[in-house]
Amino acid sequence: MKKVILAHRYSEEAVERLRREFELVIADDEGGLAACLRRHPDAEALVAFLSDPLDGAAIQAMKKLRIVANFAVGYNNIDVARALERNVLVTHTPDVLTPATADLAMALLLAVSRRLVEGDAFVRSGRFRGWDAGLLLGKELNGAILGVVGMGRIGLATALRARAFGMKVVFYSRGAKPRIEKKYGFARVTFLELIRSADVVSLHLPYSPGVRHLFNRDVFALMKRDAIFINTARGPLMDEAALADALERNELFGAGLDVYEQEPAVNGKLAGLKNAVLLPHLGSATAATRRAMAMMTVQAVRQALAGKRPQHLIPEWKEKLKTGHFKVTGKRQK
Ligand code: GLV
Repeated sequence: MKKVILAHRYSEEAVERLRREFELVIADDEGGLAACLRRHPDAEALVAFLSDPLDGAAIQAMKKLRIVANFAVGYNNIDVARALERNVLVTHTPDVLTPATADLAMALLLAVSRRLVEGDAFVRSGRFRGWDAGLLLGKELNGAILGVVGMGRIGLATALRARAFGMKVVFYSRGAKPRIEKKYGFARVTFLELIRSADVVSLHLPYSPGVRHLFNRDVFALMKRDAIFINTARGPLMDEAALADALERNELFGAGLDVYEQEPAVNGKLAGLKNAVLLPHLGSATAATRRAMAMMTVQAVRQALAGKRPQHLIPEWKEKLKTGHFKVTGKRQK
């Protein structure tokens, strides 16, 4: 039986399916992923989680490894260059988590703009004495400008939700998106134009070291003083300490974060700020979405170990199959 490593326990249904065909090793039962990889260098597939870095040395040491199926759409936890060099397939879970993640970006946006967490705490602490014309005034979304940074699947889904709230959408993306501009009337602008004009900035870029701290002190300083910053993408896209300083000095209206630079650690200052809404990386966290993601990893492992091309290869792998070459954006993961 071919050996498959599962980084952590997830959907029982997926575990059950994998067990039917493969010898399944769950890293949590073996002292964690690093120890498990050392103990089972003969595994042919790995279902990885975004919280476990998989570096080049680990990939190199797994001589029989044919696929890493990442249980996430983002795959910056994996040394993709090394996987490509070693011909190890890498898949991810696009599309199925797009609506859930865009919903969460919208939920954060509403929570920050209408001060939901402060309001909830207010009621619970017994301070609610009756309707008050000046109580917890928020920021109007209708007519406000949403700047979407990264107009991929999730960026677009968020933009469409925001449009339904009366927001005007502009976006920044490295490549031209004429179809999106034409179909939805969303304008592609430069990064500088976006951060200067947006009332809300929402991040939807994949992470690579080339965009580390794209949002730094200088960028936060250029944003509107009452702007809202939403990050449901990856923590290292922002300088978390710089964001905390800007929020503390009220240089922004607020921020809604689902991701952090060094998860699970969160900048200590952020936790004390009322104008920050902080979630524990819940973007895709609905039961239906997590099930769909888990089943995608099962399908990927089955396809790869049957010698077939898995359906949801990462873009770098698709490029390699098309051209015979591969290019990985940004510098190699340290
Ligand atoms: C979650 O962050 C994902 O990349 O799926």
